Amino acid sequence: MPFSLSLHVGDPARLATPLLAVALPSDKAVPKTLASLDKALGGALTRAVKQKDFKGNRDETLFLFAHGKGPQRVLLVGLGPAPEAGAIVRAASLAGRKGNSMGVERMAFWAEALEGAAIENAAIGLSLGGWEYSELRTQPPAAERPKPLVAAVVCADQATDAQAALANGVAIAEGQRIARTLAMMPGNLCTPTHVADTAKEIAKRHKLKVTVFGRKEMEKMGMGSFLAVAQGTPQKPKFIVIEYRGGAVDEAPVVLVGKGLCFDSGGISIKPADRMEFMKFDMSGAAGVLGAMEAIAQMKLKINVVGLVGSTTNMPSGTAMNPGDVVRASNGKTIEIINTDAEGRLVLADVLAYAARLKPQAVVDAATLTGAVVVALGNNATGVLGNDQGVVDEVLAACRRGGEPGWQLPLWPEYRDQIKSDIADMKNVGGRGAGTITAALFLAEFTQGYKWVHLDIAGTAYSETDLISLPRGPTGVPVRTFVEFVRGRVR
Ligand code: BES
Ligand code: MN
Ligand code: ZN
Repeated sequence: MPFSLSLHVGDPARLATPLLAVALPSDKAVPKTLASLDKALGGALTRAVKQKDFKGNRDETLFLFAHGKGPQRVLLVGLGPAPEAGAIVRAASLAGRKGNSMGVERMAFWAEALEGAAIENAAIGLSLGGWEYSELRTQPPAAERPKPLVAAVVCADQATDAQAALANGVAIAEGQRIARTLAMMPGNLCTPTHVADTAKEIAKRHKLKVTVFGRKEMEKMGMGSFLAVAQGTPQKPKFIVIEYRGGAVDEAPVVLVGKGLCFDSGGISIKPADRMEFMKFDMSGAAGVLGAMEAIAQMKLKINVVGLVGSTTNMPSGTAMNPGDVVRASNGKTIEIINTDAEGRLVLADVLAYAARLKPQAVVDAATLTGAVVVALGNNATGVLGNDQGVVDEVLAACRRGGEPGWQLPLWPEYRDQIKSDIADMKNVGGRGAGTITAALFLAEFTQGYKWVHLDIAGTAYSETDLISLPRGPTGVPVRTFVEFVRGRVR
């Protein structure tokens, strides 16, 4: 469904629209700029705020009905205290979601002093608020369906740069839409081949170079670690390299890496049946890379970016890897496989080793790597670890700008003892404690020669509950973190 965004500069009370969403922070008086809107509402806006019928709390909403030629309905949406990047996206998503379910087709969004990044955030929220994955559901006849939202107007403070901000918001929203769709798709449809086909589509749309390596090519490159995971599945494993060249020819690229397990059963170390269905989301890192490549290409950022995706599934079978097996990765290091469910790091080992060939200025990987990160940080923050504090700080700032909170965990060498093997260079699990750190230290063995940051998104990529502004399912993490990081590196 095509979705169009446009700008309105000036009094929102003059906008003829079926629905105007007004985002207000908590416990503040109604700003003077809304005086004429308040009038059209017969003073209901100031009354609602004064009487505390509307407090401006996060995710709080209140419908008001107006008269006159302006907005027919006004939806107050709370931003919460001290609104940051995430608050505007969240309020706009919630507004978009309401607008979508009401069937109004068109709506507008206002918040105080909307400019620059805030316009972008509003655009992202509105474009995605109505997103749902309905492809597999039988649809009711068109007449009975609420009409989807097809257009939204962002009420900007001033026109300067607003159009560019709107366009950037659309680009990022499209990237997130791709990522969320891939992560939501079941494993029987979103196969490694489908992930590769999606990369090819993005590449075709933006004239990017894309290379897809299969089992044979990976064997030639000596990727014994990745292939150990892929040896148990009838699916064709795919190693995807997608290259965007927006910078100088001789400029070192930023490399984005994603774990692309289209389904993770655990393999021979099989997972319990309860909630195993969620393991279709184990390619959220890969989805994030492809979504970010779409956004970056659409934004035409002046920088070189290469996306690397390792995609397969982890299955138990007669040909599957077994606990105790020792494999050799493409950088020559040997790995003793203790637990076949620690497969993401085995795939990433060879992908990260490949990244060194690209002589990158920095590498950021995203992976739904450990259940331990959910124990440590819950669902509210991505685990961030890296071998260079400067780049870690850049990534943490990117997380903040993108409204995708991240929190650093230490990558201290003291923890390295936990992955010592009796017979190989390392083993693939590090025991009970500090599971996210030992997983990252395993990855660090394959990042020689470049600056690298790892995002463990196991707790943040997918929500098992309805988040009010977002339905149950993929959150779009880490698309914005990737985009903000890359954008921050444009010179
Ligand atoms: N994809 C999982 C990580 C995961 C687990 C994400 C639970 C979300 C919820 C990963 O491949 C995995 O299975 N990790 C193991 C590692 C362990 C065997 C050391 C885990 O976290 O249990
Ligand atoms: Mn696993
Ligand atoms: Zn996994």
